[in-house]
Amino acid sequence: MKIGIIGIGFVGAPLAKHLVAAGHQVKVTNTRPPEELARMAQALGAAPATLQEVGQGVDVLVSSLNFNVLAALPQDLQDLFRSLPADVIVADTGNYIPFRDGRIEALEQGQVEGLWVAEQLGRPVTKFLNNLLAETIATGGTPPGTPGRLALALAGDDQRAKQVLTTLSNDIGFDAVDAGSLADSWRQQPGTPAYCTELTAPELVKALALANPDVMAQERERVFTEIFRLPEVERTHKAIVAIERSVLQNAQQHQSGR
Ligand SMILES: NC(=O)c1ccc[n+]([C@@H]2O[C@H](COP(=O)([O-])OP(=O)(O)OC[C@H]3O[C@@H](n4cnc5c(N)ncnc54)[C@H](OP(=O)(O)O)[C@@H]3O)[C@@H](O)[C@H]2O)c1
Repeated sequence: MKIGIIGIGFVGAPLAKHLVAAGHQVKVTNTRPPEELARMAQALGAAPATLQEVGQGVDVLVSSLNFNVLAALPQDLQDLFRSLPADVIVADTGNYIPFRDGRIEALEQGQVEGLWVAEQLGRPVTKFLNNLLAETIATGGTPPGTPGRLALALAGDDQRAKQVLTTLSNDIGFDAVDAGSLADSWRQQPGTPAYCTELTAPELVKALALANPDVMAQERERVFTEIFRLPEVERTHKAIVAIERSVLQNAQQHQSGR
C-alpha cells in the first residue's frame, strides 16, 4: 500500500518504520529543512516528501500532529487536506493534552476529539493508534495470533477505512478493535479505560464499554499529574502504563460497586 505520514515524532516515526518493514511504500514529512528530513526519512526506510507531495498518490494519509497544530492549521496543511482526493483514507493519531496543546475551548466543552479533528481538517478521519503509547507502538507489536497480542481501537464512520486500517494494524503488530463511529471515539480518549492501558482485543472491547464521559477529563488530569509527579528516572514505560491502568481499575470498581 502507498502511505503518507505527516509528522514523524514519537508516534509517526515508529509507525513509518514498521510499515516499511511490512513492505509498504511510505513517504513522510515534517517541518524540517529538506536535508534534515531526508536524513530522518532515510533512517526510517521511508521517502522524504514535501507537504505538497505527501498526499499525492497515496491510499492512506496519517496525520500524527499535536492538537495545537490542528487548532491553528497552517495554510499549507489546509491546502493539502482540501485538495486530497476523497478516496484517500485519513487516519488521525492525535489526542488532546491541554498542558501541551493549550486550552481548546470546543474540547473543554466536551466536543469529541475525533469530530473536532475532522472539522479542523475539513474531512472525515478515522482514529488510529491514539490509544497506544509511542513506546507500545515502537516495541509492543507481535505477529498475528501471538497469545496476549495487544490491540488498538479504530473509530470512524467509514467501514472501508476501518478495514484498511485493520490490515495496517496487523502489519505493524496489533489486533484492531472496531470501536464504533467517530462520534463514539471519546471512548478511547485520554482519561478513559481504553487509553494506553495495553490490552488484548477482548479486554479492549470491555474497556471501551466502561468509559464514562463524566469522569474522563478529571481522570486525564489525575493521570498526567501522577505521571509527572514521578521523578524522571522512575517515569518508565512500565510505570506510565501502570498509572494509565488505574483509570481502568477505577472504572471496574465503579461498575462492580453499582
Ligand atoms: N507520544 C505518544 O505516546 C502518543 C501516543 C498516541 C498518540 N499520540 C498523539 O499523536 C500525536 C503526535 O504525537 P507525537 O508524540 O508523535 O508528537 P511529536 O513527537 O511532537 O511529533 C509531532 C510531529 O508533527 C510534526 N509537525 C508539527 N507541525 C507540523 C506541520 N505544520 N507540518 C508538518 N509536520 C508538522 C513535527 O515535525 P517537527 O519535528 O519538524 O516539528 C513532528 O514530526 C499527538 O496528538 C499525540 O497526542 C501520542
